[in-house]
Amino acid sequence: MHRRRVPRMFYDYVDVGSWSGSTYRANRDDFDRILLRQRVARDIERRSLASRMMGEDVSMPVALAPVGLLGMQHADGEIQAARAARDAGVPFTLSTMSICSIEDVAAATRAPFWFQLYTLRDEEFLDNVLDRARRAGVEMLVLTLDLQIQGQRHADLRNAMTAPPRLTVANLIDMARRPHWCAGMARTKRRGFGNIIGHARGVTNMGDLMEWTSRQFDQRLDWARVEQIIAKWGGKVILKGINDPEDAQRAVQTGADAILVSNHGGRQLDGAPSTIRMLPAIRRAVGPEYPLYLDGGVQSGQAALKAIASGADGVFIGRAFTYGLGAMGQAGVTRAIEIIRREMDITMALCGVNDIADFGPHCLWSPELEQ
Ligand code: FNR
Repeated sequence: MHRRRVPRMFYDYVDVGSWSGSTYRANRDDFDRILLRQRVARDIERRSLASRMMGEDVSMPVALAPVGLLGMQHADGEIQAARAARDAGVPFTLSTMSICSIEDVAAATRAPFWFQLYTLRDEEFLDNVLDRARRAGVEMLVLTLDLQIQGQRHADLRNAMTAPPRLTVANLIDMARRPHWCAGMARTKRRGFGNIIGHARGVTNMGDLMEWTSRQFDQRLDWARVEQIIAKWGGKVILKGINDPEDAQRAVQTGADAILVSNHGGRQLDGAPSTIRMLPAIRRAVGPEYPLYLDGGVQSGQAALKAIASGADGVFIGRAFTYGLGAMGQAGVTRAIEIIRREMDITMALCGVNDIADFGPHCLWSPELEQ
């Protein structure tokens, strides 16, 4: 449905992994190798998925990951997704690269949300955007470390991806075939990269933005700079984009409050291991108590539970909710969240567990158990 509703270029932008797509596929497929233990006669009538993430009460330990350009999947996409997350009792993370601004989302949801930051070179922009986030009531910064240079995504190159789309004949035909999308975009006030245009020096239109962005990703990023940004923010921070035990150990030393194990949904280093495969080693590296989250390939409640049993305190979902947004806006995001919730609940029950806090490694079948 998403594919039918959203212009090809924006559908492909979501669906793609980098290069051969092997990491993108492994993120999902590696969950299939993990087996759940089927347990019976354990009184499963009173179940609860309620949990806490970063000190906040959540209805289940599943957050919406930062996804850029949601406003191109559906009119006011960031607002629609944030509202669905708020109503479902799960955190929403706004991307730096969003169409709706921090202020738009804060005004439309009147609920706390998390903000994702790319480590950009423009110091003035960085200070300004952190200030705006604070003023909008954001309490959690998700600092992404795995996109200092972009992994090549063939589909985006083929489509010459731009937002908004260039007005070529092919794009106009594609858009004309998707009247719902066009009508939505026409109704919405034009927002266009609300976190950047008008907020970064000299960036007043799309042309400026493209030029500015191409100069911004900071290839000099090192741990000292990460620590500097954490200090600048002064609030809670999740470091996102760590997929190696040594990096995880170093990340803990920065004083960050949590790590989000991520390979950017297989969109950056193709050939890297899946996140679910790396999770146990990263858990060992950071110790049993350190807050650890995972994203990548979580498109079902079962995958969420397998990640939690493998050492994550919770998961983030990216594409799973974005497909829902493209198909049906806020209702589609709600639907995606509720599919995951229901599958988690039933699976937890069939594993003989009542409380998500008790869903641990003992719920997984391992070869040693066969001896
Ligand atoms: C992303 N991701 C991402 N991450 C980030 O820190 N900032 C961003 O702006 C974006 N943008 C973005 C766009 C699209 C279309 C996708 C699919 C992903 C990565 C995202 O936060 C998350 O790490 C992955 O999406 C997780 O994998 P799954 O759930 O999509 O398999």
